[in-house]
Amino acid sequence: PTQQDLTGQHWVITAGPTMEAIDPVRYISNHSSGKMGYALAEAAKVRGATVTLVSGPVNLPAPSGVHLVAIKSADDMLTACRAAMTSPADVFIGAAAVADFRMKDVATQKMKKTGDSDEMQLTLVKNPDVIATLSQEKAAKCMVGFAAETQDVIAYAKSKLERKGLDLIIANDVSRTDIGFNNDENQVTVLSKDQQWTPPKEAKPALAVELVELITQHQSQMS
Ligand code: C5P
Repeated sequence: PTQQDLTGQHWVITAGPTMEAIDPVRYISNHSSGKMGYALAEAAKVRGATVTLVSGPVNLPAPSGVHLVAIKSADDMLTACRAAMTSPADVFIGAAAVADFRMKDVATQKMKKTGDSDEMQLTLVKNPDVIATLSQEKAAKCMVGFAAETQDVIAYAKSKLERKGLDLIIANDVSRTDIGFNNDENQVTVLSKDQQWTPPKEAKPALAVELVELITQHQSQMS
């Protein structure tokens, strides 16, 4: 796996959180660090793939030799992914923590705390499901998603695999404080329709190397 055996392949990877504007100075987002997606981009690049990394706002350096497309919102992420895959990519990995909702109407001016009420309401609407949409559009030959769960991890991941039309799903238990979200280490279970693998708990860059290998093996089974 240290050879440039992915030369000629295009991998598109999403990473980090999305940022959904409330008004010109405020937003809705989450604690995703982007580490897993960036590590996957690096691991695929090292094996020779052309990598497009569509990333929300993170505090990570741009990996060298990777096409980094910086976006903010889920809508922007979908647009950027489609633009990257005008012809189908070999692999798409959705490692981003996409916000489920955005403002129905983004305020054009800074919202004021005027009036007597101690409460305020924001009306949100559902964001597009980036990976499910791209999967429906057959944007990549192999679609890989993540499933962060706090209970019944395998069962929920399996149903997500089917619902979103994915080839592989990488499930992790985010109720554990030693792994996952914003952590340097991760432990996951990779599921296909009829197989599952659990690599050891390890640092995200090492895990990314194993995940790229698993995806590559699955790819060769598909064709
Ligand atoms: O449904 P859930 O958010 O748990 O699914 C997680 C997977 O779906 C991840 O791969 C994530 O990147 C992707 N996703 C997406 N667009 C959304 C929500 C999730 O691409 N709006």
